[in-house]
Amino acid sequence: MDTPAETKKIIFSGIQPSGTLTLGNYIGALRNFKLLEDEYQCIYCVVDMHAITVRQDPAALRRRCLELAAIYIASGLDPKKNVIYCQSHVSAHAELAWILNCFTYMGELQRMTQFKDKAQKHADNINAGLFTYPTLMAADILLYQTDLVPIGADQKQHLELTRDIAQRFNGVYGDVFTVPEGYFGKVGSRIMSLQDPTRKMSKSDPEDTFISLLDPPDAIRRKVRRAVTDSEADIRFDPANKPGVSNLLSIIAALTGQSVEEAAAELRGQGYGKLKDRVSECVIETLAPLQSEHRRLMADKAYLQGVLTENAEIANRMALRTLRKVQRKVGFAERLK
Ligand code: TYM
Repeated sequence: MDTPAETKKIIFSGIQPSGTLTLGNYIGALRNFKLLEDEYQCIYCVVDMHAITVRQDPAALRRRCLELAAIYIASGLDPKKNVIYCQSHVSAHAELAWILNCFTYMGELQRMTQFKDKAQKHADNINAGLFTYPTLMAADILLYQTDLVPIGADQKQHLELTRDIAQRFNGVYGDVFTVPEGYFGKVGSRIMSLQDPTRKMSKSDPEDTFISLLDPPDAIRRKVRRAVTDSEADIRFDPANKPGVSNLLSIIAALTGQSVEEAAAELRGQGYGKLKDRVSECVIETLAPLQSEHRRLMADKAYLQGVLTENAEIANRMALRTLRKVQRKVGFAERLK
């Protein structure tokens, strides 16, 4: 693939290679990545630089970067059409993040709920990277003149900050950045924990609270069977009063294309056991092809490494166009080469 034509609109999104991906990542983000493959030039990043804002085992992180690239491809993204690469391979991300740090206020970063959550979870390591995480995310997005960012609801606040930073910068220097929009699925932009359905499903929580994309069928059935519901026996979508049941209905709806009401109507009058069986069935059916393709790809690391190398070159060329413009605008010394 050459450097993509400038006429197509751009989609950018990223996922952290910081643990096994969850069904939340899949429903909230990954499954939407493919939807607009033909209309847009899509760029999907393995955000390893974001991942080190919490301590990582180096060997595990390296393996997970390849694993995530394999998951992107196994979910149906063609690496010849989509730019799939690692963030750390394109140094423009770090360079633009520095500049954007100088256009972001401490107060804005202090308000970020993800920072507050992570600072609480990692009280012994509240590092500056954790704090400035959103400016690196803004750099990821703005470097590619992104139009659309498919993400789950938990990343909405970061996207809003990205838009604010872009508008602030454009206000000073003219139209340098495209101001991106978010893209959220109709259902499932916030999949909840199986054990505490008032909290989002998260890969950093205990095993039984989430479904991993690589869980075998029996683990999926076991986790879903133990999912917290409520003491009624009424299957209806009502997130405020029935968060557990509503979460299960969202999963079915997201994976089948039904609305939550249709999913509920189909199961009305049957018990929660049946509801859970239906959830397991949909999840297992969705993940089976992804898992077998993932296994196949992981057996060919040279191929994956080749994809990442080739695509990083393309990303680098695209990113440098914006970075050089930004550097000129802010007044950095001219480069003769
Ligand atoms: P990360 O790695 O935590 O999650 C990846 C994507 O999955 C979505 N997601 C969920 N969606 C629904 N329900 C859930 N329970 C759930 N959990 C996670 C997230 O919203 C996300 O879309 N900061 C980002 C990664 C990032 C990024 C970017 C995203 C870095 N740079 C630029 C978009 C554009 C993150 O930590 O995602």
